[in-house]
Amino acid sequence: MGSDNTPSRITTRSLQLRRERGQAISMLTAYDFPTAKFLDEAGIDILLVGDTVAMVVGGHETTLPATMDQMIYHSEMVGRAAKRAMVVVDLPFPEGQLQVSRSIEAGARVLQETKCHAVKLEGGAEQAPRIEAMVTAGIPVMAHVGLRPQNIHVDGGYRVQREQEKLIHDAKAAESAGAFAVLIECVPESVAAAIHDAVSVPTIGIGAGGGTTGQVLVTHDLIGLTAGYTPKFVRTYASVGETIRQAAEAFRQSVEDGSFPGPDESFK
Ligand code: KIV
Repeated sequence: MGSDNTPSRITTRSLQLRRERGQAISMLTAYDFPTAKFLDEAGIDILLVGDTVAMVVGGHETTLPATMDQMIYHSEMVGRAAKRAMVVVDLPFPEGQLQVSRSIEAGARVLQETKCHAVKLEGGAEQAPRIEAMVTAGIPVMAHVGLRPQNIHVDGGYRVQREQEKLIHDAKAAESAGAFAVLIECVPESVAAAIHDAVSVPTIGIGAGGGTTGQVLVTHDLIGLTAGYTPKFVRTYASVGETIRQAAEAFRQSVEDGSFPGPDESFK
């Protein structure tokens, strides 16, 4: 706790201590102020302004349509809401694929224009020079290895990634380049555990089993607010989509039968 009763901020250093002490890290996506506020109050350690916003909010089939301006717009909202959580922002395609200077400019926008704290960059060994340049410029980077959604058209679909040696090489290269954490997406549990053992920084898994330091999910999947397919690795903790449908139906019925607005909901 801070002296004014504000909770202490989660930082790269406190996350590293979590890994060293064997303490778990929770991470969820957030794209707007109220959701970020509730997740922060629930004690979630890291909020991710993910480029999945293009899919779960925007209705697109991939993350590729998310733009830097859209990420900044959503990051402003999440950054304003989070009092304790670290907020990590995805570098959307192609900010992490073009010149390194463009990635530094994109990361600098996140730190200057929003109250967020770090960026996430898809890729492993091939991204090491970029990670090093960004960290040198003062931009904390979470690396993202395993399934890389921005690579979907090269990979030909979303598939479990099984090449243990390559994935360990990717994670170690990212760590050596200065990444403060490594996110591991969609790999077998034993492979994720081997990656975790090969690096010293915190690892955060999604569809990667229980052997990582932390776990991340897309909040819309977790609360049942998705329109389509739910991946195998998701646990759904609530049915918010169904709650919205029921509330809207109840409202429509009360408008149609004249019971809304009632005397208490009208000005005299
Ligand atoms: O963009 C995102 O939401 C992500 C999660 C799948 C971890 O990268």
